[in-house]
Amino acid sequence: MQTHPVCLGTAAFGTAMSKAESFGILDQYATMGGRCIDTANNYAFWRGQGGESEAVIGEWLANVDRAHFTVMTKIGSQPVEQTPDPRGLEGLSSQAIHRAVDKSLERLGIDQIDLLLAHHDDPHTPLLETWEALGEQVAQGRAAKIGVSNYSTQRLAELVQIVDDHQLVPLDVLQLQYSPLVPVAQTDAMLVRFDTSMRDLVAQILPQAIVFAYSPLLGGRVFDIPEDADWPSAYDTEANREQVAYFRRQAQTMGVSVSAFVLKTIADEGLHPITATSKVDRLVENLALVAGAAG
Ligand SMILES: NC(=O)c1ccc[n+]([C@@H]2O[C@H](COP(=O)([O-])OP(=O)(O)OC[C@H]3O[C@@H](n4cnc5c(N)ncnc54)[C@H](OP(=O)(O)O)[C@@H]3O)[C@@H](O)[C@H]2O)c1
Repeated sequence: MQTHPVCLGTAAFGTAMSKAESFGILDQYATMGGRCIDTANNYAFWRGQGGESEAVIGEWLANVDRAHFTVMTKIGSQPVEQTPDPRGLEGLSSQAIHRAVDKSLERLGIDQIDLLLAHHDDPHTPLLETWEALGEQVAQGRAAKIGVSNYSTQRLAELVQIVDDHQLVPLDVLQLQYSPLVPVAQTDAMLVRFDTSMRDLVAQILPQAIVFAYSPLLGGRVFDIPEDADWPSAYDTEANREQVAYFRRQAQTMGVSVSAFVLKTIADEGLHPITATSKVDRLVENLALVAGAAG
């Protein structure tokens, strides 16, 4: 079975989506050659408690060949009651990381997390402490590769310098928000975009890193919507409307959905889109241009 470059987003699994619906999506994704599952220990606390997504994935993995799948999870942003973190999150102290990895491994029912990421920067813990603790997870075989999500260019550069200075486990994985449309302004302080300055920095200091692009379809609010539908104001510019008109023409010529064309465009840039849907038919449509391609 050939694999393809698109990773499956699972934030809704076990909360907005039932276990049966989640299994349906996972089965279809696997059938289409999908091999990468993205989750986080805090999915989806805003609808439940956090951990539901990992638990559903764990149940599904128990009935398939686990070695066929790359499991990526993220820690550090689960809200907890007792924490020194002023944001009310577990954070990325050494103790918090060890505890979070214990729980993720248990929920996922696996011995090793393939890709373990710090979900968001923790400005209240020294980067050195965080990275040493993540490195210990690799040394102990509890994680294969480590990385970060949503770090600013400045903090990423600081972190990479620390990794070099202390000869720590390398930073192999990045997860950032990216779609081919440029927003007029940052939409959410917790979400960091793979913009031009980030792209240039990564090419310079982390050329070997695997880059995952989350929310590539902008949550389904722009691409496959009626032509006269309202757009999110952050993306409603003339340049973006022209870009989408071009995507529509290309998709029509190829006989695929606009979303399918967008995912292929991002994959062709060497990135790995992380996309989600609750509908099996839509998953089939969205992966039309990538499924079956070598990756
Ligand atoms: N690192 C981070 O901080 C971070 C942040 C956000 C997300 N993520 C990860 O990325 C994953 C994906 O995020 P996302 O949900 O924002 O991704 P997305 O792929 O941009 O959007 C998925 C949404 O778009 C809709 N959609 C998909 N295909 C469509 C189509 N052809 N036409 C119309 N609507 C369509 C889906 O709705 P239906 O269910 O109705 O199809 C779903 O709600 C998450 O599950 C999570 O794993 C990571």
